Amino acid sequence: MGMKTMEKLAVIPGEHNLKNYEDTAANHDWQHSEQAFSWFETGKVNIAYEAIDRHATTHRKNKVALYYNDGNRKETYSFYDMKRHSNKAANVLKEKAELNKGDRVFIFMPRTPELYFSLIGALKIGAIVGPLFEAFMEGAVYDRLMDSEAKVIITTPALLSRVPLEKLPHLKTVFVVGENIEETDKILDFNKYFAEASQDFDIEWVDKEDGSILHYTSGSTGAPKGVLQVHYAMVQQYQTAQWVLDLKEDDIYWCTADPGWVTGTAYGIFGPWLNGVTNVVVGGRFSPQAWYGAIEEYGVTVWYSAPTAFRMLMGAGPNIIGKYNLSTLRHVLSVGEPLNPEVVKWGLEILNHRIHDTWWMTETGGHMICNYPSMEIKPGSMGKPVPGIYATIVDDQGNEVPPYTMGNLAIKKGWPAMMRQIWGNPDRYESYFLKGEWYVSGDSAFMDEEGYFWFQGRVDDVIMTAGERVGPFEVESKLLEHPDVVEAGVIGKPDPVRGEIIKAFISLREGVEPSEVLEANIRDFVKTGLSAHSAPREIEFRDKLPKTRSGKIMRRVLKAWELDLPAGDLSTMEE
Ligand code: WTA
Repeated sequence: MGMKTMEKLAVIPGEHNLKNYEDTAANHDWQHSEQAFSWFETGKVNIAYEAIDRHATTHRKNKVALYYNDGNRKETYSFYDMKRHSNKAANVLKEKAELNKGDRVFIFMPRTPELYFSLIGALKIGAIVGPLFEAFMEGAVYDRLMDSEAKVIITTPALLSRVPLEKLPHLKTVFVVGENIEETDKILDFNKYFAEASQDFDIEWVDKEDGSILHYTSGSTGAPKGVLQVHYAMVQQYQTAQWVLDLKEDDIYWCTADPGWVTGTAYGIFGPWLNGVTNVVVGGRFSPQAWYGAIEEYGVTVWYSAPTAFRMLMGAGPNIIGKYNLSTLRHVLSVGEPLNPEVVKWGLEILNHRIHDTWWMTETGGHMICNYPSMEIKPGSMGKPVPGIYATIVDDQGNEVPPYTMGNLAIKKGWPAMMRQIWGNPDRYESYFLKGEWYVSGDSAFMDEEGYFWFQGRVDDVIMTAGERVGPFEVESKLLEHPDVVEAGVIGKPDPVRGEIIKAFISLREGVEPSEVLEANIRDFVKTGLSAHSAPREIEFRDKLPKTRSGKIMRRVLKAWELDLPAGDLSTMEE
């Protein structure tokens, strides 16, 4: 197992919010974290109040809450500005669309300040917000609005044609954010009403267990499911933003995720703002220049991104990075897919930082297993459970297994940010829990003797070849180290003799042609670098591999190609 041979990375010297992992893990109680919130005293709960309004009456009133930059619009908003603008949005939604507590409202637009005003504004009403990634096409929009019986959607002129208004009986109002909007009885000009709206709004106080954010996420079986989070998730998002993101008063924080994905809400909105920390949002398309430029321009100190993004930056080469001053960075984190050792090396050598891997899911609503600045990192490991979280490995019957045994990564039920419903599908919700006690993640992993967790793959993706269990991620990681390989996806292909054989789908570096010699060379590379049994017996070269928007190779699509099966729901697939 190649990745485990890399040396441990020493702790980062200095003061960190989480000083002693073992101590805190042994003693933490979530009720302790509740004391940070005003509702602990007043009993009046609303996550939007805690994230924005609370700061608008303190020393943070004129502190920057949001730096927004998409190359055209470059704007700055204080906590006080955010309070007033989200109040305006709340008034528009309530008065013009009769949006009420518990109603579902979707926000379907690229990252702009209006997205953040209306998301916070809708929460102030007590409505449930479904953020939708801008790349969704009509079918995906329809599925989500229909399933949740949404009443309102906020979108842009460019995306309006993908909202099938006439097919959605529950949808009453479509707000369009743009210039010269042609209004109808259902289509309204958001900016017009926003400009007229009052800056004052009486927040709707809710129950801690009331719904807040509804993220739709794809399962391995097909139809996307609505994962409902509640206001109480703030407790964990606040606390982990301190321990894991290590956020402090003067930090300039940048999370690169879109709010259409859970990272973009939990840690692109709530984590920083619940702590009153300045948040950077970079709109527009990815480019190394824009990204490095944002770090330099805003003096980003804490940066949360994903392996795919890091790999794209790696691909852009070391010369570009040399043109920017990135010296303000002090803490770098990753989420969403395995952090390959190649990327860890790039972080150390080129970026000059340890990259801290974090593992969690839409369903968990917040960090679960992470690396912390005050802890040694074992490259390739996701780290250790967040204090207050009990994570373990169980077999299919729900029994905990000893170290180094591969099994189901499971969490003891009942953490603050845990999803509370699969929208309209209580049976699906219950199916996540084993013996009523364990939340079973669907990921397979093992724990080592020091309590570090090692990701192996999605349970459904683990390959059993000639009696050996092979995690596809490990093979893919090795393949990526080959100089000619750009992307790799590995699946088990049914085989009469071996049960399954390993098949790799590979896209090659530009200018490199597929050949039998290259194929043999790549196979050998895995054989010698990893092990004989994990070398792919079959290799197929493709120009592009199917990936989700968050960069995960969609092995289920590769499998469907291979077996000539329907590929299921593709709404989260990159164009
Ligand atoms: C995968 C993203 C390896 C995993 C916050 C999980 C990871 C799924 C990691 C959830 C990681 C997430 N290492 N795999 N650090 N983080 N995953 O719901 O398979 O978009 O089950 O949430 O991403 O993806 P989701």
